[in-house]
Amino acid sequence: MGIASAGTVTASRFDYYPVPPSRPVPDLGADLLHGFALSPRRLPPKYFYDAVGSQLFDRICDTPEYYPTRSEAALLAEHAGELLALARPRHLIELGSGSSRKTRLLLQAAGQLDLELVYWPFDVCHDMLERTGRALVEEFPGLRVRALGGDYMGGLTHLPRPDGRRLFVFLGGTIGNFDELETQRFLGDVRAQMQPEDRLLLGADRAKDAAVLEAAYNDAAGVTAAFNLNLLRVINRELRADFDLDGFRHRALFNRAESRIEMHLVARTRQQVLVAALERSYRFEPGETILTEISRKFTPAMLEAMLARAGFDIERHIEGGERLFSLLLVRPAGS
Ligand code: SAH
Ligand code: TRP
Repeated sequence: MGIASAGTVTASRFDYYPVPPSRPVPDLGADLLHGFALSPRRLPPKYFYDAVGSQLFDRICDTPEYYPTRSEAALLAEHAGELLALARPRHLIELGSGSSRKTRLLLQAAGQLDLELVYWPFDVCHDMLERTGRALVEEFPGLRVRALGGDYMGGLTHLPRPDGRRLFVFLGGTIGNFDELETQRFLGDVRAQMQPEDRLLLGADRAKDAAVLEAAYNDAAGVTAAFNLNLLRVINRELRADFDLDGFRHRALFNRAESRIEMHLVARTRQQVLVAALERSYRFEPGETILTEISRKFTPAMLEAMLARAGFDIERHIEGGERLFSLLLVRPAGS
């Protein structure tokens, strides 16, 4: 399915493989039924990323307030060569690759080191994989891109296991979008895929001043608000619901006790929403919220504890002068 049409040289360097889940993953309907029975109501973040949502996320990364992308890119620009020299991968497997914009820094550095890499972007957004994969093979002559479509919350046992050293990459602070339990399960899944010589490169956002954090998730131009509200459009389309996008507003607050940003959609008025595909309707009171995402912000001690618990040793921790963001190169403990 989805194999690049034959005929051109670049097309043959891009292909697409679906990765089936290795444990059951609930669909949007099941997640909504479950999450809307909780108080406050909540939804998992993966449904943000339809074609429109993925492009909005890319625009968030360009807002002046959203420092994580720039901080992480600066760390990669300075240290990509050193990280690759340590990991010496043959395969770069990136989880939640999106538009792969920062990965380009790794691909460029690999070129300078004469490392011949195969790039395996893994994402739930098929549209983004296709668009990005085709652009990358044009940009990097000789690069092979093997796009993997799937849900990384569904387990990784069906990932391809190509021969040669692998560098798993998980950037953007996306690890922070998991709660403690999901984090350990996810890291355990990655760990279970790894041979002793494989490495994981992890990007994690750091705890800092609440005003800086809250601004990053409340950009003045309203791109993050549009991204958050797009979730309601996805639900309307997929589940034949009748959410009124004007009936909700975006809110992001830093919860210091939990060290996380919490993103909500807040009902502006009392309203009733019909979700036809589920034959349910839900009442919202003014001010009632749907928790649509958490984004955990880490101290070095939190990162060390999280990684040790999941069975990783830290080989290199790069944080830059401002310590806004951390890049960690880690290996299976004891190897
Ligand atoms: N790595 C990029 C994008 C981060 S946004 C960066 O650093 O900028 C998170 C990415 O993970 C999106 O591309 C989204 O489509 C993808 N994603 C979210 N949930 C996912 C899931 N459950 N399985 C696979 N990909 C997922
Ligand atoms: N991984 C990103 C983060 O936690 C995802 C993200 C950034 C995001 N801004 C967002 C998700 C706004 C939803 C809304 O920083």
